[in-house]
Amino acid sequence: MTHFLEPEEVDYPLTTKEGWAAFVAETIAPPVVLPPAALQRLPESERAEYDQAREDYHSQLVIVSTPTIRHVAATGRKRILLNRHQHSARRGLIVSGPAGTGKTTAITQLGKNYEQLGRRRGEIQPKSLPVVYVTVPPAATPKMLAIEFARFIGLPLPSRYSQVEVTNKVCDLLCTLGCRLVLIDELHNLDIGTRVGAEASDQIKYLSERIPATFVLAGVDVEGTGLFAGRRGGQIASRYSLIPTSPFRHTTADQHGAWQSLVATLEESLRLHAHRPGTLLKLSSYLHDRTSGMIGSLSHLVREAALDAILDGSERITKASLERVDLDESAEQQNLPRARRRRTRNEKRTA
Ligand SMILES: Nc1ncnc2c1ncn2[C@@H]1O[C@H](COP(=O)(O)OP(=O)(O)OP(=O)(O)O)[C@@H](O)[C@H]1O
Ligand SMILES: [Mg+2]
Repeated sequence: MTHFLEPEEVDYPLTTKEGWAAFVAETIAPPVVLPPAALQRLPESERAEYDQAREDYHSQLVIVSTPTIRHVAATGRKRILLNRHQHSARRGLIVSGPAGTGKTTAITQLGKNYEQLGRRRGEIQPKSLPVVYVTVPPAATPKMLAIEFARFIGLPLPSRYSQVEVTNKVCDLLCTLGCRLVLIDELHNLDIGTRVGAEASDQIKYLSERIPATFVLAGVDVEGTGLFAGRRGGQIASRYSLIPTSPFRHTTADQHGAWQSLVATLEESLRLHAHRPGTLLKLSSYLHDRTSGMIGSLSHLVREAALDAILDGSERITKASLERVDLDESAEQQNLPRARRRRTRNEKRTA
């Protein structure tokens, strides 16, 4: 017999209202680490459950309050407040920077915190939809953009609907549902140099006029894509503030401090039995070399090493265990000595 999943068993993507609600409701609580004696007494089945909980936890780890997170949070909250009584010409934010510098994390955390706080204070009606999160599909047309909003809301749309009909439906519904913050990610998919891309950019402008919400956009290096150029771009440039994101640098004392504090926070969040505290902090220069200061690569490296530590029973992260983790190609290629070592190792493996 076919087993149909119950609605609550389905993993909805973040770009749907169900996925977004689950993300807002989710709190990451670190699992309790049992002392050695208690661990020894644990029956095998409970041990498996205990390790599984720690594996789940380390696969996500914590959100660190980085300069990007703080900047987007502070500016975003102010914008939402200032825009509340603004009938037109609302001002938005664009978060732009290289891949893996924490743009998506920063804007989704802004949305999550805004919604959590509003619901706690009773400022948001239970049935309303204060935050919408959508991504720009590749080669997006204006209609495709509006359909992304409809998909988030779960609004069924007959395929014969025209662009105008879809757009009107979406705007009317979002007004009724009290939408106050619209997050549009993957903005680099919008190719403003093409006619379709320029029309899609106009569509974002139109939606931001129709929906009384603060618009926060994010994408990879979007300031170089012509988004701010020309007559169209001039209007965007005057309405949106740019928040640039970048890799963590490692030159001045302040920069060292910021990187070390990121590494230390990740290390303190580990829940491993035999990890020696301060090991990662001591390796902070090595970690910067490995990851070129990319928070995405650092997070991947630490989380994968933590999972390895649980799976192989060593329960600790060391330089040797970090060396065994293969990172994304861009991080690996930046690091030439390691790329060379890795090649030699792979050659030996295949020999
Ligand atoms: N403040 C943070 N604290 C902890 N981890 C973070 C933080 N910011 C980003 N990360 C981690 O770094 C990884 C990349 O982050 P994110 O997806 O936000 O980057 P991005 O700039 O949107 O990347 P892309 O350009 O590829 O979309 C994620 O796995 C995330 O868990
Ligand atoms: Mg992203």
